[in-house]
Amino acid sequence: MKIDIVSVFPEYFEVMNLSLMGKAQAKGLLEIKAHNLRDWTHDVHHSVDDTPVGGGAGMVMKPEVWSECLDELLGFSQPSGSPAPSGAPVLIFPNPSAPLFTQRDATELSHADHLLFGCGRYEGYDARIPDYYRAQGVDVREYSIGDYVLNGGEVAVSVMLEAITRLMPGFMGNPDSIVEESYTGEGALLEHRQYTKPAVWRGIAVPDVLLSGDHGKVDRFRRDEALARTAEIRPDLIAALDCKALDKADRKTLMALGWEVSATHPRRLAD
Ligand code: ADE
Repeated sequence: MKIDIVSVFPEYFEVMNLSLMGKAQAKGLLEIKAHNLRDWTHDVHHSVDDTPVGGGAGMVMKPEVWSECLDELLGFSQPSGSPAPSGAPVLIFPNPSAPLFTQRDATELSHADHLLFGCGRYEGYDARIPDYYRAQGVDVREYSIGDYVLNGGEVAVSVMLEAITRLMPGFMGNPDSIVEESYTGEGALLEHRQYTKPAVWRGIAVPDVLLSGDHGKVDRFRRDEALARTAEIRPDLIAALDCKALDKADRKTLMALGWEVSATHPRRLAD
């Protein structure tokens, strides 16, 4: 997968040379290039922002600089009116006012050949930039990584990139480790808790069943723990489950936790 990132702080992305992301680059699985937006400016101050039209605090990133940069990186030979080049990357802008980036998005984007991320700073970027490229036929996405505001899109891009690239075939040493994770698949649940040896540490024992060697019992224990933790921490995920996909034991566990499971989706009885 080819990944281009545009930022006024391209140095942020030097961390991509570390750990599994660095290994994936060394293996040729990933090719990450961070570009400095200021390279597309023409004034002596290399300015990339201006005051908001209509007033207000802060500065907004200018469309002209972004469009010169994006035309080049998207492969548009003529700036205006030309159709999106075939094989153009998916263009992704982190934005705290956009829909939430989820595991589903990460999974979908892990199959892309080429992603282009544009990092906003200050009060964000001129809203016409994503609109314009969408109108040119580019697949443009805007995502928030959570309900909080960061100083810029760089950290959000790092988060999205890690979530996306680890799902690429060949990225993980052991591909099984991504199969059972939280937020994976249709019936997404938070993951059960994990333990390692010793069996007793500082007087605290791991649950007996995990030492029993009975795989059926271990699976059921973990599934029940996942259901209980999800019901407590993320009841919205339980409410989104398809009751038809729950087995008898799942239903019994959920009922004991105060959920009704006879409709299409579980419903908390206290509600
Ligand atoms: N830029 C600033 N805050 C952000 C957030 N929460 N998600 C994505 N991009 C952002």
